[in-house]
Amino acid sequence: MHPYFSLQGRTALVTGGTRGVGRMIAQGLLEAGARVFICARHAEACEQAAQELSAHGECTGIAADLSSEAGAQALARDLQERLERLDILVNNAGTTWGAPLEEYPAKGWEKVMQLNVTSVFSCIQQLLPLLRKAGGAENPARVINIGSVAGITAMGEQAYAYGPSKAALHQLSRMLARELVGEHINVNVIAPGRFPSKMTRFIADDPTALAEDTALIPMKRWGREAEMSALAVALASTAGAYMTGAVIPLDGGFHL
Ligand SMILES: NC(=O)c1ccc[n+]([C@@H]2O[C@H](COP(=O)([O-])OP(=O)(O)OC[C@H]3O[C@@H](n4cnc5c(N)ncnc54)[C@H](OP(=O)(O)O)[C@@H]3O)[C@@H](O)[C@H]2O)c1
Repeated sequence: MHPYFSLQGRTALVTGGTRGVGRMIAQGLLEAGARVFICARHAEACEQAAQELSAHGECTGIAADLSSEAGAQALARDLQERLERLDILVNNAGTTWGAPLEEYPAKGWEKVMQLNVTSVFSCIQQLLPLLRKAGGAENPARVINIGSVAGITAMGEQAYAYGPSKAALHQLSRMLARELVGEHINVNVIAPGRFPSKMTRFIADDPTALAEDTALIPMKRWGREAEMSALAVALASTAGAYMTGAVIPLDGGFHL
């Protein structure tokens, strides 16, 4: 690997790193040499994913429920006991909820907003002391938030809270990028289009829906795991050191 992209000696946390997009990112960071912590709600899934990912480097699973501020606080306390500093924070855990407009429940709206926006704010807030210790003028600490092309385009697909939650996350990221740049903490967003995961399985498993979905993507295909891993490694490495406040669509041109 070219030294520009090496993450040797760095420590990362990937929330929701047990499967899907988070797992793609965790694997990329491990392959680039970072030590990686992954978290998710289910302890067994954390343990198993960490064990499997350990084939690529040092990976530790921590059970954490980020659906409340208390969950983010507990996660930060746990990491503070284990770590001197945190070089890379990937806020990936996210959720969606779909229902017809008239039936869309407030509890769905609240669940999506809580995990996709509030919990990202709480994680950054709670982990700031560890990020501050990692960041320097030569090599800033990195926060990588996983937004969505749904926060850029208006294709809602009845997931009424999802697009607005991601648009809010994009804006929060720009705001924090501006505020934290003086403390050598970079904040950027990957805004994915379609990638294979549990969240998108309902489309992938339905050949008609998949064909219709793919037809809307200018590159006529979904994203590949390696493409997600590689962009995360770039943002976490020298390639991303002079970049902050960017919202980067990774979507085969869908946002166009
Ligand atoms: N896949 C796509 O095409 C796509 C496109 C655009 C954006 N995204 C974004 O990418 C991120 C990952 O999505 P995905 O598609 O990989 O979804 P996924 O397969 O459902 O994975 C979600 C991850 O988050 C964890 N999680 C869910 N609720 C949590 C909670 N309350 N506390 C802690 N962890 C929690 C899950 O583990 P547990 O269930 O065990 O907690 C899992 O590890 C999300 O932010 C999503 O919005 C995905």
